Amino acid sequence: MIYKFLKIIIAFLILSSSIIFFTLYVNKDYKTISLKANQSLFKKRIWEINTDSLSEEILSQMSLEEKIDQMYGEKMIESIPKFLGNYLFKNRFAHIYAGKNDRLNIPPWVLSDGPRGARVLDKKNAVTTFPVGMARASSWDVDLEYKVHEVIAKEMRANKTNYAATPCINLLRHPGWGRAQETYGEDPWLLGEFGLAAVKAIEKHNVMACPKHFALNSIENSRWKIDVSVDERTLREVYLPHFKKVIQKGKPASLMSAYNQVRGEYCGSNYELLTKILREDWGFEGFVSTDWIWGIYDAKKAIKAGLNVEMPWQDEYNYNKIKSLIKSGEILISDIDKLVLNTLKTRLKYAFSYDSIDYNDNLILDSSHINLARIAAEESMVLIKNDKILPFKKNGNLKIGVVGKLANIKNTGDRGSSDSRAPYVITPLEGIKDYHRNTKNKVIYNDASNINDAIEVAKNVDQLIIVVGYTYKNEGEFIDSPGYQIGGDRISLKLEENDEKLIQELSKFNKNLVVVYVGGSAIDMNNWQDKVPSILFSWYSGMEGGKALAKILYGDINPSGKLPFSIPKNISDYPYFNPFTDTITYGYYHGYTLFEKFGKEMSYPFGFGLSYSKFHYKNLIVSELNISDSTYQISFDIENISNYNGKEVAQLYVGFNESKVDRPVKLLRGFKKISIPSKEIKNVSFKLNINDLSWYNPEKKKWEIEKIKYKILVGSSSRNNDLIHSYISLE
Ligand code: BGC
Repeated sequence: MIYKFLKIIIAFLILSSSIIFFTLYVNKDYKTISLKANQSLFKKRIWEINTDSLSEEILSQMSLEEKIDQMYGEKMIESIPKFLGNYLFKNRFAHIYAGKNDRLNIPPWVLSDGPRGARVLDKKNAVTTFPVGMARASSWDVDLEYKVHEVIAKEMRANKTNYAATPCINLLRHPGWGRAQETYGEDPWLLGEFGLAAVKAIEKHNVMACPKHFALNSIENSRWKIDVSVDERTLREVYLPHFKKVIQKGKPASLMSAYNQVRGEYCGSNYELLTKILREDWGFEGFVSTDWIWGIYDAKKAIKAGLNVEMPWQDEYNYNKIKSLIKSGEILISDIDKLVLNTLKTRLKYAFSYDSIDYNDNLILDSSHINLARIAAEESMVLIKNDKILPFKKNGNLKIGVVGKLANIKNTGDRGSSDSRAPYVITPLEGIKDYHRNTKNKVIYNDASNINDAIEVAKNVDQLIIVVGYTYKNEGEFIDSPGYQIGGDRISLKLEENDEKLIQELSKFNKNLVVVYVGGSAIDMNNWQDKVPSILFSWYSGMEGGKALAKILYGDINPSGKLPFSIPKNISDYPYFNPFTDTITYGYYHGYTLFEKFGKEMSYPFGFGLSYSKFHYKNLIVSELNISDSTYQISFDIENISNYNGKEVAQLYVGFNESKVDRPVKLLRGFKKISIPSKEIKNVSFKLNINDLSWYNPEKKKWEIEKIKYKILVGSSSRNNDLIHSYISLE
């Protein structure tokens, strides 16, 4: 008994002293640990080195243990105290050094998360913090996404990391998904285009991009165990096209496997996903790392499936296990060599890459980065209802009421792995106050903790701005530890009762009002949307969000965001969603494809968003097929028939009414954001590749193009009334 007690005491002492030790010393030197190969140790110049043959040479010099060392992040004993120490005492995310080998002069690689900004160790842990992914997707501006990810990548490099755990391109199957805010919406085309822009920008700065989470990770709470069933067409046509596009066109260095199971096998050891589809079908040449902690459960299966690196710690991929698998002949040394070679070949390219700029600390929070954070917020807010309320009048000794606790808190979204801390956050209230600073207008704030006080404000103001929605506590990565539970999936899509009551009550007393929603995905507004004249989705809008909000409300910026998901009239029309289930089937239809196919009414369709301008689409012309590049040219005019200069997101859909197989009514196949000054006409054109008409034939295991007539639709949203159409025929 005494012996047992002593053991506990000793274990406790070791753990606490190592936490203190690692907090004090580890990561202190992160600025001096180079992620680049030391040129002087190699006999050639950077441009003379063929990193592929160098990798083979290095591999041939490695012992089995050294090879295994390339297959995990760090050893648990070093890593766990470092992690806890950094987290508990410095409130930051530790640098984990993977794959370092001093004997063979191989530098390590270091991950940074980053869907809305890098995660840093310095500058008091602050970086440029952008609106969340879902917000940026609502901008429908891939050039902007490219610029945003350039900033994220530069700040990652300045922070001495070179592996970006972003973009998140999991499909939004149901808006209750806790991590919806990190991704780019419900549509595979939109996801693919945004993911591609992000990957290209990251790679430009010699950061290894790691899109995530491969695959079918669209439920948070049960992500560690849930088994997703999916048929082959659904997999290929709905859940994977965006991964395929990003892999084939963006050529990211890496990919992160998801925690969940697909068809009875964990993604980290899923041969079908990691080898057959990823490498054999798509030609991926980089390396796959697991999602962090419990990404794999069976070393043999994972090795056979083609999983290169276990993160962040050595658990399944440990020396004893791998050695005994080799000894028993269950795996071959060549299996290990293959995995290590994928990793080395990829990594060394980055270790020997030439940087055209110096990635130093001064880059972090550069004024141009902060400016971009504001622009991203301006471009992404979506006006979904406006009965002649906005833009608000600016002058006239106005009394302006701002109501709601969320108006006055720094609210940039998730506090899990997509957390990125800003040095400051301009809240809605601050943004609005600042906007009126040099005017005679008066801003009155009420936090709505007492509904009667809030009503008094509503009664006595000329303009009313009600800010409602969520925080990291309601949605985000699910962190479920004793006494601390945040994030997770949303079981109800309704706002909190207080928020609903606030809107309902205040709207009785003041009709000159806008409801500003802060959150990461769709909500159920049925209890109150008819009672209010205008609604703006402002999302988690990043460090400059409050400024952008004020400019939109007062018309300095004309709203141009469009929803990257659809909201049906009847919320129960969304696909089945249960955050606590162990098994689920993902069907072929979801989002607008589901609602259109089964005739479900939508309140706010995919691609919908209002502007202060009015646009008119006309003169749609579809060319003959150009044989040389297999494309159709689709051109049309958009006229801005209003007095406001504005921006429009033109969308291209292809309709499949005549298909002989079961297909969606239509699918997004292109989009462009264009500035159109008042009263001007802009000609817009898309190229439609014939391969983008194809469907996956599961029996023949290949993509096929039907010889039928296809409908070509262009317009301002996916709603029929917003589209003009023509046809192309392959009959
Ligand atoms: C998340 C990943 C993230 C990783 C490292 C995991 O829990 O699912 O998205 O990249 O942690 O922070």
